[in-house]
Amino acid sequence: MKSFAAVLFGATIALAATASDPRYIHYEFLGKLDKRAAGRFVTRKKYTSAVFNGLAVELKAPEDVVDLASIPNVVSVRPVTIYPATKPFSLHVASGPDDPAVPPFGQSPHVMTGVDRVHEQGFTGKGIKIGIIDTGVDYTHPSLGGGFGPGCKIVGGYDLVGDAYIPGLVDPVPDDDPMDQCQGHGTHVAGIVGAAPGNEMNITGVAPDAALYAYRVIGCAGGVGEDVLIDALLRAHADGMDVITMSIGGASAWPDEPVSVVASRVAEQGTVVTMSGGNDGDYGPFFFGAPANGKDVIAVASVNNLARMYQTMTTNVEHAPIASSVPCMHGNIPLTRASQPYKISDPLEDLDGWPVDVPETPFPVDALTTDPMYNATACEPLGDDVPDLTGYAVVFRSARWPEVLVPGMCQVEDQIRNIAKKGADFFIIYDAAWEPYVGNIPNKEVLLRNIDDGIWLVNEFNKGTNLTVTFKQHGSGVDVPNPNGGLTSLFSSFGPTQDLLFKPALGAPGGNITSTYIVKKGSWAVASGTSLATPYMAGSAALLLQAKGKGSTAVGLPESHEPRPRPHTLAQQGAGLINVFNALNVKTEVSPAELLLNDTAHWKGVHRITIKNTGQYKQKYTLSHQPAGTATMHDIALYPVPVIDAAVAVHFSEKEVTLAPGASTAVTVNISPPKNVDPKTLPLVSGWINVRGSFGDRVQVSYLGVAGSMYAAETIISKNQVSWYHYNLPAIVPGDIGEDGAPIRQVGPRNYTRSWDSLPSLVFLLAQNSRRVFIDLIDPAMKVDATIPSVSRKRSVWPHWWKPGLPLEEAGGSFDDVPIKMRIYDLHDIMHISGGPLGPAYQIYLPPMVFGTDVPYGQYKILLRALRQFGDPALEKDYDVYVSEQIGIVESL
Ligand SMILES: *[C@@H]1O[C@H](CO)[C@@H](O)[C@H](O)[C@H]1NC(C)=O
Ligand SMILES: *[C@@H]1O[C@H](CO)[C@@H](O)[C@H](O)[C@H]1NC(C)=O
Ligand SMILES: *[C@@H]1O[C@H](CO)[C@@H](O)[C@H](O)[C@H]1NC(C)=O
Ligand SMILES: *[C@@H]1O[C@H](CO)[C@@H](O)[C@H](O)[C@H]1NC(C)=O
Ligand SMILES: *[C@@H]1O[C@H](CO)[C@@H](O)[C@H](O)[C@H]1NC(C)=O
Ligand SMILES: *[C@@H]1O[C@H](CO)[C@@H](O)[C@H](O)[C@H]1NC(C)=O
Repeated sequence: MKSFAAVLFGATIALAATASDPRYIHYEFLGKLDKRAAGRFVTRKKYTSAVFNGLAVELKAPEDVVDLASIPNVVSVRPVTIYPATKPFSLHVASGPDDPAVPPFGQSPHVMTGVDRVHEQGFTGKGIKIGIIDTGVDYTHPSLGGGFGPGCKIVGGYDLVGDAYIPGLVDPVPDDDPMDQCQGHGTHVAGIVGAAPGNEMNITGVAPDAALYAYRVIGCAGGVGEDVLIDALLRAHADGMDVITMSIGGASAWPDEPVSVVASRVAEQGTVVTMSGGNDGDYGPFFFGAPANGKDVIAVASVNNLARMYQTMTTNVEHAPIASSVPCMHGNIPLTRASQPYKISDPLEDLDGWPVDVPETPFPVDALTTDPMYNATACEPLGDDVPDLTGYAVVFRSARWPEVLVPGMCQVEDQIRNIAKKGADFFIIYDAAWEPYVGNIPNKEVLLRNIDDGIWLVNEFNKGTNLTVTFKQHGSGVDVPNPNGGLTSLFSSFGPTQDLLFKPALGAPGGNITSTYIVKKGSWAVASGTSLATPYMAGSAALLLQAKGKGSTAVGLPESHEPRPRPHTLAQQGAGLINVFNALNVKTEVSPAELLLNDTAHWKGVHRITIKNTGQYKQKYTLSHQPAGTATMHDIALYPVPVIDAAVAVHFSEKEVTLAPGASTAVTVNISPPKNVDPKTLPLVSGWINVRGSFGDRVQVSYLGVAGSMYAAETIISKNQVSWYHYNLPAIVPGDIGEDGAPIRQVGPRNYTRSWDSLPSLVFLLAQNSRRVFIDLIDPAMKVDATIPSVSRKRSVWPHWWKPGLPLEEAGGSFDDVPIKMRIYDLHDIMHISGGPLGPAYQIYLPPMVFGTDVPYGQYKILLRALRQFGDPALEKDYDVYVSEQIGIVESL
C-alpha cells in the first residue's frame, strides 16, 4: 500500500502532464517555473513520447505545487507516488527438485488454462516480444537462456535505476544491463513467461519461444518512483513490445494516477499491457491497485492452483503413503465459517503443506481406543491406567461440536492437552473440524487428509502390530486436488475502481507457482500472488497473438466447490480464468468484452454486442444470461464480502441469431438493476452474457455495475462494524481504556492538556474511498449541519444525505460561513481502509502529536468532511459531514 504521507505533505516532486507535444512547451514551462521558483526545483525527467508528454519536477518548496498548475499548457499536476518493492504473497526459495515445498507437478497451471494443449498445437510465442518491467532478470539462468542480447532468450532491455537506487533518496544510475542479482522477483516472473523446457524442475514457461526484454526499475533496496515506471513503460513501448507486463503497484481507487494513464495509453496503441491487481483481497471491495486500474490495462486476478501439496508419512506396515498437513497456528477456524456467504468449502484450507519439523526416525504409535470412530478420546484427563506416552505419536479422531462452540464442551484442543500430559510427543488427528491451536504445547500435530487413513492406523494399532510412523523431510510431497483449486485466491484484490471501471479483467494461476530464481540464491522458487498470475497472462497473450491476433475467452469461476455453487462476483475474479486453448480454437468473436453499467445514478443498461462468425460453417448462436453472486460493497473490509442472490434483468433484442461464415451482426441487450435490494448497501451486480454457437463455441461478455447510488450512500460510516469499539464511529477517543480492555469514547465536552499522553484522537471509518477529506478545528458554538450523527444527536433522525440534491437552505444551513480555526488535514484520494494500526479505521491525532505545532488554548469541535463519489469538491453539499464532541485544550486540568 502506498504511503499517504508522501502524497499529502512531503511531496516535493510533481509531475506535470502537458496538453500538446512540442518540446517548446517544456522549455516554456521550465522558464515560467524558473521565474516563480528560481533555484527551487530540479527537472527529473522529460517525457516527450507521442503517448505522454510531461515532466517530472522536484520542488524544493512544496508550496510551489500550487503554482505549477496555473502555468499555461499544464493539464494536471500530481505527486509522484512511490511504490514499494514488489512482494509476492509468499515466496520460498527451493533447495532442489526434492524440496518439500516444490509441488511435484509444476505444470498444473498449464492444465488449468489449456496452455498444455496450446503448446501441443505448436504455439510457443515465437516471434512475439514481451517486455518485463520488474527487478531485472538473472539471464545467466540456463532456463532463461544463459545470456543476454540478440539471439538469447533475454534479447534486450535496460536497467533504468542501478543497484543503489532508492526512490526519493538515492537517484537512479541507469545502464544497459538489466541483471537481477538482489531481488529475484523479475527472474521468477521471467520464468513464468518463458522458461525453457527440459529443466530439473520439469517446468515450462507459458511462451517459451517468445523474445523477452527486461526493464529493471527496482534496485537492491526496493521501491520505485512513478517517474521511473512511466519511463520504463514508454521505453518498452518505443522498443516495439507486443506485450508489456508489470507486477508492481499499490492501492489506488481512481485510474488517473499518471502511470495508470500512461499504461492505458500504451494499451490503447495496441500493445497488450498486463498488470497485477494486488494482493489486498482482505481489504474488501473497491481496493484495487494502480497502475493495473488504468482503463485499457488487462488487470489480473489470481486463481488457486488446482494441485496442492501435502506431505506424506510412511508406516512400518505396508500401506500407501498417508497424506497430512500441519496447522498454521491460525487458531480456530470453526465450521461456521463454511456456512458464511463467501463459502470456504474446506475449513482446513490454510493448512501448511510443508513437512512437520521432527527427526526422520520412526515414532511408535498409540491409539488409546479400539473404536476408530470414537470421537471423545482423552476428552477427560487420562487415568493411571494409561501408560506413559513419552516418545509416542498418538492417533485419534477429533472431537467435533458442529456449528457453535459451547464452553466446557470437549474440543480437539482439550484432547491434545490431556494426551500431552501423558508425555506424548506427537498428535495425529483425523476428521478435524478446524485447525487446533494449543498455545503452550509445542506444535507437533498433523491433520490427516483422509479419515480412512486414521481409521486404518487405529485398527492397525489394535491388531497388536508395533506400528510406527516416519515423517520424511524430503521428497515426501504429493499433489492432491486442492479443495480451493480453480477458485479465486482469497488474497486477490477486489475491484472495481471507485468510478466503476471493470477491474480485475481476468484471472490466471497465481498460487504456488514454481519458476526460475537468481542462480546464486538457489535458481528456483515457489511463490504465490497476483504478481505471478500477471506474467502468466502476458505469456498467454503472446500465444494468442502468435496464433491469431487479439482476443480472449475465460471460464467463470464459482464461489466454492459445494454443490450448485453460485458464480463468484466478478469484482474479484474478473471475467474468469483465462482459457488459452478455447480462445485459440473458437470460431466466434464477440465485442465488446465488457459492459460497464455504472451505478443507478448513471445507469447505462443498453448495450450492443457484435457477434462474428469467423469459421467456415454456418453457426446458430444462442444468447443467455448468467448472473454471479451480488456482493454488497458498502461495508468496510467485511471479509468475506457478503454476497446475496440479486440478479439484474436482461432483455435481448434477439435470443438467437444465425450467421453465415464471415458474417456478423449486433444484438441489443437491455440490463436493468434488481429491485429487491437495498441500494445503500451498494449491491455490486455482475455476470456474463453467454453466446453459444451450434458448433460448441462458447464466448462471453461480462458486465458489472452497482445497484445503488455511490453518491447517495454513506462515505463516512455512521455505524460501527469494528468489534473492538462498542459504540458508533466517528468518535473522539482519548487514550482511556475501559474495563473490558477496549478504548472508550468521549461523551460530552472534555478538556485536555497538550501533553503527549493526554491529547485525544478522532477515529472514523470510511465506507467508500474518498477523493477529498478535510479535518478542521472549528468554534464549538458554530452551528454546522452534519450528515453523520454525533453522539449527542438523536439517532432516530435519518440524516439528510439520503436526499441527494437537497438545497442547502432546506438542509438547514451551510458551513460556508463556519470559520475554520485550524486545518488539521486536507487529504486527497483516500482509500476506505487505512491499513494503519487500527486496521480499517482512521485515527487522527491533534497536530501537536503530528507536527509539533501547538494548537492555541481554547475550546473546539472537530469538523470532518469527506467528499462523496461523483461529488464536486467545490460543493459543500457533496460532502458527508461529522461534527465531534467539544474538546478543550487547556494549560492544566
Ligand atoms: C514432467 O511433466 C510431465 C507433464 O508435463 C510428466 O508427464 C513427466 O512425468 C514429468 N517428468 C518428471 C521427471 O517429473
Ligand atoms: C501453497 O502451498 C502450500 C502447501 O500446500 C499451502 O499451504 C498454501 O496454501 C498454498 N498457497 C496457495 C496460494 O495456493
Ligand atoms: C461425537 O459425534 C457425535 C455424532 O456426530 C456427536 O453427537 C457428539 O457430540 C460428538 N462428540 C464429541 C465429543 O465431539
Ligand atoms: C512389539 O514390541 C515389543 C516390545 O518392544 C516386543 O516385545 C514385541 O515382540 C513386538 N511385537 C511384534 C509383533 O513385533
Ligand atoms: C459512471 O458515470 C460517471 C458520471 O457520469 C462517470 O464519471 C464515470 O466515468 C462512469 N463510469 C464508467 C465506468 O463508465
Ligand atoms: C474546560 O476548561 C474550561 C476553561 O478552563 C472550563 O471553563 C470548562 O468548564 C472546562 N470544561 C470541562 C468539561 O471540564
